[in-house]
Amino acid sequence: MSFRTPYKVLCVCLGNICRSPTAEVVLRHYCDSGQLNVIIDSAGTSNYHPGKAPDLRSQQHALKRGYDLSNLRARQLLISDFLDFDLILAMDSENYNNIQRLKKTAMTEYGVEKIRAEVALMSEHDTIYPKQAVPDPYYGDASDFERVLDQCESSSQAWVEVFQKAKSEVKGVV
Ligand code: 4NP
Repeated sequence: MSFRTPYKVLCVCLGNICRSPTAEVVLRHYCDSGQLNVIIDSAGTSNYHPGKAPDLRSQQHALKRGYDLSNLRARQLLISDFLDFDLILAMDSENYNNIQRLKKTAMTEYGVEKIRAEVALMSEHDTIYPKQAVPDPYYGDASDFERVLDQCESSSQAWVEVFQKAKSEVKGVV
């Protein structure tokens, strides 16, 4: 992984109103705590909820742990995101496959050499939930929203370790 700064990460789910806004704010919290220069955004593979604030249940559960999601607004993943972001994190394998499909379109549209984004699962390095989906809580209950937060916290801490290592390797070269 090459760690240019600011490093740019995009968290992606289906609707961009439950999982990926949660992931965005939780990952930002851990990157900031680790003094990493990382810019984080989120998007959905669908265009079901453009311009909408995160689901109130996501907002309420997140706020109980100190995460404020209220200023976020949903948007759809764009092919230009593959030019701008270094890393795109999928919440589940269906999102992952859809993101990879759109990446192919971006490659055709812009040329392979212009594409910056790597695609990975949010849980890629997670030791508690290894390579597991962050389950969609939309039709679920309170425990499903808590589970999203548990997994986002665990996976974000794992990503911060990866970023710290990549940053120290860049420093080592300079
Ligand atoms: P998300 O959850 O992908 O975590 O934002 C969903 C939000 C909305 C829908 C599905 C999942 N929906 O079908 O509208």
